[in-house]
Amino acid sequence: MIVMQDLLFSGVKPTGTLHLGNYIGALKKWTEIQHLYQCYFCIVDLHAITVPQDPAQLRKDTLDIAATYLAVGLDPKRCTLFIQSEVPEHAELAWILGCVAKMGEMERMTQFKDKSQKGGRERSGLGLFSYPALMAADILLYDTTIVPVGDDQTQHIELTRLLAKRFNDKFGSTFTLPEILLQKHGARIMSLTDPAKKMSKSDESKSGVIMLDDEADTIHHKISRAVTDSGSGVVYDLEKKPAVANLMTIYHHMTGKTMKEIETLYAGKGYGDFKTGLAEVVIEHLAPITKKLKEYREHPQELQNILDHGRDAAHHAAREKMKLVRDRVGLGRG
Ligand code: TYM
Repeated sequence: MIVMQDLLFSGVKPTGTLHLGNYIGALKKWTEIQHLYQCYFCIVDLHAITVPQDPAQLRKDTLDIAATYLAVGLDPKRCTLFIQSEVPEHAELAWILGCVAKMGEMERMTQFKDKSQKGGRERSGLGLFSYPALMAADILLYDTTIVPVGDDQTQHIELTRLLAKRFNDKFGSTFTLPEILLQKHGARIMSLTDPAKKMSKSDESKSGVIMLDDEADTIHHKISRAVTDSGSGVVYDLEKKPAVANLMTIYHHMTGKTMKEIETLYAGKGYGDFKTGLAEVVIEHLAPITKKLKEYREHPQELQNILDHGRDAAHHAAREKMKLVRDRVGLGRG
């Protein structure tokens, strides 16, 4: 249950334009609840460098996430929008939490297993391995109570709670244990071309992923080629019709219609009609976001000002928390 004094923290890696999965699973929810709570939305560039990045591109992508935050409707007067690496306490606390975490716990993280698969474990970066300690630091620095994310982050939030509890038990009450906040439908949007795989920035098949700045024609094309299930009815059945359920989930988020209402709307119609309708509602929903994204991209100074302000506010809170953490652990001269 969310209560008034709740504090929200979430973040996105600046590794390219965001897609509809990021939007539905995370950012859309943020915009809906931003006015109710104190919110920190971070651009996690230190997490981005756990895999190789081109420096110039990373800077560009970092600013582009700021533009996206504003384009989807996050209000910088209400929320603290900032870049992770500009608040050095994140890296400092990550080190301390890395000393609290156990190798076995980190080894069980499925994200590390997935991401290290390609190049092999031996050749994977140490940063990729300790990624969850940095994520825990992000969350715990601000006494976060709620973390709105997609369900691929569930294991990381569980580890964050575990590390916070272990630290509190050993050093005295210091950190708040956060709760995850998942979308009821849409915590995991699947690829349009392979409904068994989540929609992902790293998906090699670009046709399965709708980017937030895709042109209308591209969206039409991608949705018209989306995989569907056998049979023909537009019915929400996650077990038997996972592909259609995924498309219906997208429809639900674009329009606010319930699954039942979507079923009624398309009763007696085939997948073709449904996909045409879906493309229309996605285009309509994304059009103002895409337009604003282009505008913000053209006004980098405005983004810089917002990020300066966010950095100062986040730094102030993080500095206070780290004084306590250092004191608890016995670091420095006190
Ligand atoms: P990232 O950048 O991979 O993804 C950003 C957000 O999008 C969600 N998401 C999805 N939701 C539904 N369906 C999908 N197909 C889909 N793909 C991605 C993710 O769950 C996420 O909420 N580790 C995080 C960033 C992070 C963070 C944090 C988040 C770093 N520190 C502290 C919360 C709190 C990540 O890699 O997100």
